[in-house]
Amino acid sequence: MIVLKTPEEVELIASASNVVAKSHQRILQEVKPGVTTLDLDRLAEQCIREFGAIPAFKGYRGYPKTLCASVNEEVVHGIPSGRPLKDGDIIGLDLGAIVGGFYGDGAVTVSVGEVSPDVERLIMVTEESLKRGIAQAVVGNRLSDISHAVQSYVEAQGFSVVRDFVGHGIGRQLHEEPQVPNYGRPGQGPRLKAGMVLAIEPMVNMGGSSVRVLDDGWTAVTGDGSFSAHFEHTISIQPDGPAKILTSLK
Ligand code: MF3
Ligand code: CO
Repeated sequence: MIVLKTPEEVELIASASNVVAKSHQRILQEVKPGVTTLDLDRLAEQCIREFGAIPAFKGYRGYPKTLCASVNEEVVHGIPSGRPLKDGDIIGLDLGAIVGGFYGDGAVTVSVGEVSPDVERLIMVTEESLKRGIAQAVVGNRLSDISHAVQSYVEAQGFSVVRDFVGHGIGRQLHEEPQVPNYGRPGQGPRLKAGMVLAIEPMVNMGGSSVRVLDDGWTAVTGDGSFSAHFEHTISIQPDGPAKILTSLK
């Protein structure tokens, strides 16, 4: 069942999401060759706590860290480690925060130094696919209009969407109904309503869509070793007009 949020609840999700956005801004300044993903994790936890929130992922189903740091062929849920970043890497930075018992969740992918034009395009296409998904998050549409907008754009650009992980409703819990797949026919699923808050999160592979999870139980990697990018925003659907992007500083 999809429970609509009250305006007061949306405000708390917005506060948590704002902490995610401000933390991302700080962490992105430190992404450079030589920095380890563990360094970024420590900074992430420090930022979230300084901004008055609680890290949402640490301890969630046993996840050990604050940040998910997914490098190159890692799709999502990369566990921060002593591995230093190097020129030509890309890194997805996924963060969650809790304020007043409500969650915010967001992710960005950036390049470390110089990457090939194709890899740069992978990042740009993934970010644009999220924008196109969010543009469909309006009253009157159905849930899969979001999914279809993401998939059709990504595939037209020659990349593939991951199907084994999906976006989600968010609120008092990190993962609520409905699931928000990044693929599907348009016009399916529940009608979108004001008061729905969704975390939309396309994961896009340069090669095939298959992924597998490493023996650490968390790190998802592409089946073919191709690079993968991930962007995520927490958004709230408005009575009319476009959705509000809560994990954005703009
Ligand atoms: N953004 C991811 C998600 O929505 C992050 C979850 S990582 C976990 O699933 F550690 F919290 F599971
Ligand atoms: Co999420």
